[in-house]
Amino acid sequence: MINVTAVLHYYLYNVLKDKHNRQSTYLRLAVTDRCNLRCRYCMPEEGIDFAARKELLTYEEIIYLCGVLGELGVNKVRLTGGEPLSRKGLPRLVEGLGHIFPKMAMTTNGILLPPVLDELVGYGLDHYNLSLDTLHEDRFFQITRRDEFGGTWNALEALLERGIKTKINVVVLKGTNDDELGDFVALTKDRKLDVRFIEAMPFNDDDGNHHLYLSHGDMLANIQQRFPDIEPDRGEANSSSVAYRVPGFLGTVGIIPAFSRSLCGSCNRLRLTPKGTMLNCLYSTKGIELLPLLRQGIGRQDLADLITDFVLGKHKDGHETQRLEQSGNIFASMTSIGG
Ligand code: GTP
Ligand code: 5AD
Ligand code: SF4
Repeated sequence: MINVTAVLHYYLYNVLKDKHNRQSTYLRLAVTDRCNLRCRYCMPEEGIDFAARKELLTYEEIIYLCGVLGELGVNKVRLTGGEPLSRKGLPRLVEGLGHIFPKMAMTTNGILLPPVLDELVGYGLDHYNLSLDTLHEDRFFQITRRDEFGGTWNALEALLERGIKTKINVVVLKGTNDDELGDFVALTKDRKLDVRFIEAMPFNDDDGNHHLYLSHGDMLANIQQRFPDIEPDRGEANSSSVAYRVPGFLGTVGIIPAFSRSLCGSCNRLRLTPKGTMLNCLYSTKGIELLPLLRQGIGRQDLADLITDFVLGKHKDGHETQRLEQSGNIFASMTSIGG
């Protein structure tokens, strides 16, 4: 059935365009800041000040807000966190979002995925990005501080068995897992899988991860030592990664320049934090706090106007956002912004 309001809005508003002529069509929705792992590059072991339940947007509030975003031309949602599956009753939210967004995806460590996978796919959530930084059980423990390698690996097998579109996200850390890039690439030989290597971003309070940082170029050179014929591939539109493929391999390889920020020119993303702050960029610290407005009963039109205006002001790229919005210290953790 055609959503008449959505069509009307599409023509009335110039949808969610920014002043650099990009359109925001993709919402990264962080549903929780909690996680069942404690990755060293992401969170400290203890003393984390997680949001209280009443500080989080409720599922009803999320659905209302997403309904407005759908009318403004947003057509894809990615559930993130923290670990999105650690929020209670998540399938209920996914069912609701399935009525709004034609495309649904999730970024997860997969540990809690197998029992709910078929239900989620049934609601239309059929793209999964699995966070997995090592293929060694003992290293998994070192990196995540939890002995759960088997959980993530089971999720990977469950996804591939069902032929579901799957990507693996590997945050590359110098001296920790940079000797495994070739092994990850080898996984793409016989599996229809996208393996993506992420430049580590400086989160985690103190000095962040910067001493562990490997750039896009460093990673490519590392991979070329084992796969000298790796070549550029046609990537997806508006992708966060630069695509490569080893000739003859079933899957692809990607490098995500999360820190060097070379792909901002085609950014189509809008973010919503678990506490209901809307942000235009991964490097934003300033956004619109929607939770109080939603609790005061803001109408659809006012909400649409507010968001339209907000997106218009999106900065040119993540460097500009960082310069204009961050003073010295950056976020305590990726989980407060949804990655
Ligand atoms: P698809 O392209 O839809 O598959 O997803 P994605 O790669 O955007 O999502 P995912 O949650 O798997 O994110 C992987 C990594 O991409 C994150 O950890 C970030 O480092 C990076 N990333 C995601 N969105 C942005 C963005 O807007 N800007 C930058 N610089 N990096 C991003
Ligand atoms: N730098 C880069 N990527 C990170 N992620 C979490 N923390 C960082 C960081 N400091 C990744 C996760 C997940 C994605 C959403 O963000 O591994 O795949
Ligand atoms: Fe959890 Fe992801 Fe952070 Fe690891 S990176 S602690 S899996 S939210």
